Parts: sequence; C-alpha cells; structure tokens
Amino acid sequence: MNTSPKQAAAQAALELILPQLKREMVLGIGTGSTANCFIDLLAAHKQAFAGAVASSEQSAARLAAQGIALYDLNDLAQLDFYIDGADEADPNLCLIKGGGGALTREKIVAATAKTFVCIAEAHKRVEVLGAFPLPVEVIPMACAYVMRELTQLGAKPLKRADVVTDNGNWIIDAAGLAITQPLALEAQVNAITGVVESGLFASRRADILLLASHTGVVHLEC
Ligand code: A5P
Repeated sequence: MNTSPKQAAAQAALELILPQLKREMVLGIGTGSTANCFIDLLAAHKQAFAGAVASSEQSAARLAAQGIALYDLNDLAQLDFYIDGADEADPNLCLIKGGGGALTREKIVAATAKTFVCIAEAHKRVEVLGAFPLPVEVIPMACAYVMRELTQLGAKPLKRADVVTDNGNWIIDAAGLAITQPLALEAQVNAITGVVESGLFASRRADILLLASHTGVVHLEC
C-alpha cells in the first residue's frame, strides 16, 4: 500500500515520540486529517502511555473509537507533547491553523505542552503566512463588528457558512493578509472585542515541524 504524505508525517511524529513515551504520559492531540492519521497509528501503542487530551469533539470521538483514554486538561499539569497539523507554516514555524474550526482548543492544548510537533504536507510550508485565510473564532453577536475591525487591518473577512465551533461560536476567515509580523498581528486580532481566538500560532508556534512529501520527510526545528 502506498503511504500518503500525511501518513508519512504522522509516522515520523510517532517515531519521534515513541522512545519518549511513559506509562503515565498524557498526549495532546490535534484535529484534522493529518492528526487523524497520527491517532490511527498511535492506537497500536496505547499500552505505552496513559491517554490523550483532544483538541476537538471530532478527535475525542476518534481517540475513543481507537480505545485511547481521554483526559480533561483541567486535571493535568503540563503535557509533554502536542501533535497536530497546520494549514500553513512559515520559516520560523509560526502557523496558520483552524481550517477545521478547532483553533481555540488547539491553541489551548498547544499552550500547555512542552513540545508542539506539527505534522504537515510539504506544500503547507510558505515564506509568508496568509495565502490561507486566517480563521478567527468569534462570539456570534460580535461577528459583524469583528469583520469590520478585520477589514481595518487589511483583511477581506468572510463568515464561514453553517459552522458552529465546539465552543458554540462562529468562524470568520480573514483572507488577503500578508502576515510578515505574525506576533504583532496575533496580538492585534486577539485584542478585538468579541474575538475568542485567532488561528495564528505565533506566541505559541511549533517546536518541531515534520514536512512530508512523496520523496520523504523533512525535520525542521527552531
Ligand atoms: C483544525 O482546526 C486545523 O487547525 C487543522 O490542524 C489544519 O486545518 C490542518 O488540517 P489537515 O491536517 O486536515 O490538513
């Protein structure tokens, strides 16, 4: 069977963390098709660690279906690893995430982890973030206001149709941003009243980026 780049990235992450797994360890697990590949590979090793904190209801269901125990983040101290995909990654391992709408929980779980291992197909690596519209989770009643504020920042915002997040909120996709200053823009967007979180991962970027293509996996670290 041919291995896809997403599976290759997930396999590389598994090989990275397997030697470090401990029976009492709880892993942070992301959301999306690449994270799903990781969950499926991880299942064969579920005796080697305690369980996982999921960054979405969708990942929680997949972990549970694989027999991996689920933990509440509030019952835990720092996690050792968070493993998740991304929509774009820049040379400093700043990311755009949230194509699947799980950005807020993803950022919370990533914030609690010592090491964020990002797994992605090679084409997700860009010089400047922003060709992928930046997802922004908002309190529903603030949507029009936040869209006006994002326009002031140079974006072309669009409410994502028919999407309600796991937190009961809406998503705005902010297109047209050339994100040359990710830290500054993350702070600006997050400071807009009504914004719950942005999908710009700059204050908490990836520590390790495993980029996979049909020719192999490249390991990048900052
Ligand atoms: C989920 O909200 C996202 O942050 C995903 O991690 C991101 O969209 C990557 O998804 P894929 O692995 O499906 O490309």
